[in-house]
Amino acid sequence: METVFRVNNLSKTYLTKQALKNVSLSLDSGKILGLLGPNGSGKTTLMKIAAGLLRQSSGDIIIAGNKPGLKTKSVVSYLPDISHLYKWMTIKDAIGFYKDFFPDFNIDKAKDMLGFMKLNEASKVTTLSKGEAEKLNLTLVLSRNAKLYIFDEPLGGIDPVAREKILDAILNNYREDSSMIISTHLVKDVERLFDDVAFISHGEVVLKGNAEELRLERGKSIDELYREVFQ
Ligand SMILES: Nc1ncnc2c1ncn2[C@@H]1O[C@H](COP(=O)(O)OP(=O)(O)OP(=O)(O)O)[C@@H](O)[C@H]1O
Ligand SMILES: [Mg+2]
Repeated sequence: METVFRVNNLSKTYLTKQALKNVSLSLDSGKILGLLGPNGSGKTTLMKIAAGLLRQSSGDIIIAGNKPGLKTKSVVSYLPDISHLYKWMTIKDAIGFYKDFFPDFNIDKAKDMLGFMKLNEASKVTTLSKGEAEKLNLTLVLSRNAKLYIFDEPLGGIDPVAREKILDAILNNYREDSSMIISTHLVKDVERLFDDVAFISHGEVVLKGNAEELRLERGKSIDELYREVFQ
């Protein structure tokens, strides 16, 4: 099986703050990794390094065989934790923008997903509610045929019924030759997606493994384990 994502002894220091300390993790193709930890534990930092938006201070990172750069940016589909669309855009413009920018963007898939998300192409991005904007971002990121999907807290503003449907859609759209990293504080809702989990605390991985093995070993759900580790 191909390893899509691997970090080895990765550290990141911002000016004085050490946000990641010797993080080592890997993820095989076809797998979904839950990256879990409290506020400020380093999740976004790790995801931004993987997306090629930040550089590590030390250590190695390899994505589908390459160090972060133009090549990896073309195979990583990243959903940041804050919106990145221009204010003048309609949903249709945003779709066009993504299509021009990413050769792997699948416009038919995007249109299908807009219907599924109950979003109207004519709506202006600025008029969307928080949850609608998140649905649009998810649509854009999932409509690429990427190798690695990175979702930084994708579901915070989305109502519980829609959330379940979106999780199903992610599972259904998900291909064996791609992988996903998802950070979320909604551990209970999202844990059914995870093949692997990594718990991160103050920039260090404190527990990692196969989600099902951890559940069996500890006799707890990932959500219960999370509460135990971080209480
Ligand atoms: N640009 C920056 N300059 C200085 N410190 C930063 C910067 N970005 C993040 N940090 C610090 O690095 C640490 C890790 O931040 P990060 O955003 O990676 O955490 P997180 O796990 O994503 O948290 P949350 O769950 O709140 O999103 C925090 O202490 C944060 O204050
Ligand atoms: Mg974050």
